[in-house]
Amino acid sequence: MLERYSLKMPGNVYCGENAMEQMERILQGHRKAAVFTDRGIAASGILDYPLEQIRKAGADSVLFSDLPAEPTYLQAQQTVDDFRSSGADLIVAVGGGSVMDAAKLASVMSDGLTVKDLLDDPLAGKKQVATLMIPTTAGTGAEATPNSIVSVPEKELKVGIVNPEMIADHVILDGRMIKKLPLSIAAATGVDALCHAVECFTSNKANPFSDLFALEAARLIFENIETACLDQDAMKAKDNMLRAAFYGGVAITASGTTAVHALSYPLGGKYHIAHGVSNAILLLPVMRFNRDACLAEFSRIYDAVYADGRGAGRTEEEKADAVLKRMEEILHRLGIPVSLTGFGVNPTDLDTLVEAGMQVTRLLSNNKKAVTPEDAKEIYRQVL
Ligand SMILES: NC(=O)c1ccc[n+]([C@@H]2O[C@H](COP(=O)([O-])OP(=O)(O)OC[C@H]3O[C@@H](n4cnc5c(N)ncnc54)[C@H](O)[C@@H]3O)[C@@H](O)[C@H]2O)c1
Ligand SMILES: [Zn+2]
Repeated sequence: MLERYSLKMPGNVYCGENAMEQMERILQGHRKAAVFTDRGIAASGILDYPLEQIRKAGADSVLFSDLPAEPTYLQAQQTVDDFRSSGADLIVAVGGGSVMDAAKLASVMSDGLTVKDLLDDPLAGKKQVATLMIPTTAGTGAEATPNSIVSVPEKELKVGIVNPEMIADHVILDGRMIKKLPLSIAAATGVDALCHAVECFTSNKANPFSDLFALEAARLIFENIETACLDQDAMKAKDNMLRAAFYGGVAITASGTTAVHALSYPLGGKYHIAHGVSNAILLLPVMRFNRDACLAEFSRIYDAVYADGRGAGRTEEEKADAVLKRMEEILHRLGIPVSLTGFGVNPTDLDTLVEAGMQVTRLLSNNKKAVTPEDAKEIYRQVL
């Protein structure tokens, strides 16, 4: 059988101990770096690493440190406008998915083009400036993908702009950048990476290439997430989580997320629940719904995670249940919200939520088990 894969990933990835020191090499030939970040990251002190490397390389820098979390397309436009007059020839994004997504948009924005134009025609953008992505969460995997997600208030939805031109030129994965990540953010973003791995592996778009990355991401996350989140000094576990998040991003690019992300979009768009948190809330109900259609996939995840032979003699059903139970355990141990209580969602909002969630056909169509509006309603109802 003929197989065809479309391979898109960053050209250069530096990971592991002291990876940040590679910045000097990346900066060679660049005059001025625009550093994109947000206030939380600036306050955490980790900007010292990249700024010092830029100084060492003898390049100029300009700092954009006010980027909003999970921006609307108009807020992203503001960032693009601020950047345009900077004269920088390299964008260094130091942040989570929000910062990296804004950097990607800025990197492809030729004169006169707007973010709104890209919502209408994502491929209109062409790379104008090289990018270096340094994730500070582990994470969205945005450093690996050609996607940029913006919120569209008129639709009360988050929308993905997908354009291969936005793929990063360089990526640095260094555990020091997530060392002091507050537990609530580390946990939610880590579970987002878990969602990417499991959704991409169980997706209709899954293929042998994406499976390699999704399965390895799942294995690394199952093994490392609690230690990485709960022990500030567990640098090996943190490096592994950064690697896993990156692999998750590669899996998204080669495969695609499914109903967790689809039904999560209105929770972000309308109620402004953080991306990782809304995915964590939906992970179990959606995967329990998918269980019977994905027994073989869950079973393979089990075999990858528990390669010590403990699966011998176990049925696919038992392995699938063990994987679901392990995900439940992770959510519990990390204290992540598993319901919408406290997020201002009323039972009377259910129909609007279902209507908005069902619009995300790009991702819903990836779900192995078809999701009807009644199914979506039941899934949301379970977490209300
Ligand atoms: N492009 C993609 O492929 C892709 C994939 C998944 C999600 N996303 C998008 O990414 C966004 C979410 O990104 P995220 O989950 O990484 O969170 P984020 O970038 O929104 O950051 C969340 C918070 O964490 C803080 N923070 C980040 N790193 C920190 C650090 N090291 N120390 C202290 N505080 C820190 C930030 O200041 C911010 O307040 C959403 O908009 C989501 O839709 C994009
Ligand atoms: Zn995600």
